[in-house]
Amino acid sequence: MNIQWYPGHMTKAKRAMKEDIKLIDLIIELVDARVPLASRNPDIDELGKGKARLILLNKSDLASEKQNEAWTAWFKKKGFFVVKVNARSGAGLKQITGVVQEACKEKIERDRRRGILNRPVRAMVVGIPNVGKSTFINSFAGKACTKTGNKPGVTKGNQWIRLNKTLELLDTPGILWPRFEDQRVGLLLAFIGSINDEILNKDELAMELIRFLETYYPQILPQRYLPDEDKEVSSGSRTELEWLSQIAKVRGCLLKGGEPDYGKAAAIVIDDFRSGRLGRITLEFPPEEMEESCEN
Ligand code: G4P
Repeated sequence: MNIQWYPGHMTKAKRAMKEDIKLIDLIIELVDARVPLASRNPDIDELGKGKARLILLNKSDLASEKQNEAWTAWFKKKGFFVVKVNARSGAGLKQITGVVQEACKEKIERDRRRGILNRPVRAMVVGIPNVGKSTFINSFAGKACTKTGNKPGVTKGNQWIRLNKTLELLDTPGILWPRFEDQRVGLLLAFIGSINDEILNKDELAMELIRFLETYYPQILPQRYLPDEDKEVSSGSRTELEWLSQIAKVRGCLLKGGEPDYGKAAAIVIDDFRSGRLGRITLEFPPEEMEESCEN
């Protein structure tokens, strides 16, 4: 889903979120594990001040496991609770209820001291488009949930989904804008297909992706696109254009006269990356590790 954000939309979304946030105890923020910072909304920390915070590293199946661990540690150090999930398959979702209890321990204690027992924690799911909010709500809430009626103050149309005795979820996720004015972020979001490819044309996007892979995951391109006898050839021996030409060759994307079809090759490498066929790849590393190269 590509949403065009305009200042008016952002003001409206922010206002709605401010209202909804008054009603909840916990913000469940989904990020894309391949780009955990680039896929965050720039204003969420300010909007969520004073609320318990849970980050879900979603699409963790597409990101490198080593980096998933590194990001989990990084976010925890910043004071967030973190769970690695795959909203599509449901992996990791079982842990969430326990972590929510932990994240809202103070509130639960406070309620208990006031004699309020078993009031469910109320949570809201937020994230930029395409991080997997609706997939997550569907898998997490599943069929087991019951919708409770409208309650005063909740944005019109919103309802609470009672997940179990301890947790209620606002049924509509808070869709927020990405930090798209930052070019690096724009490029990362274009790689994962979360913004229009218009930021760069596909050929340029593919060449940027190839450059990134050659630097941080030098074994990936040879493994997928070179014949066995050439896989061991030292990395970095091909330019981006030569890689596109190689991809066109192995996939039989040739124009009349045998010229490589660079456009088709570019689409193939981008699609292979987005679908996970190139392997599990994280595109953004925790800030302290920015300079380090990674081995999956
Ligand atoms: P949104 O509400 O935040 O906009 O995101 P949505 O749930 O629509 O998910 C966007 C895409 O990401 C969907 O794929 C969805 O299946 C996929 N997705 C969500 N969570 C995960 C995950 O943990 N792992 C993987 N690999 N994919 C995930 P789609 O191609 O747009 O739709 P579909 O082909 O699944 O129907």
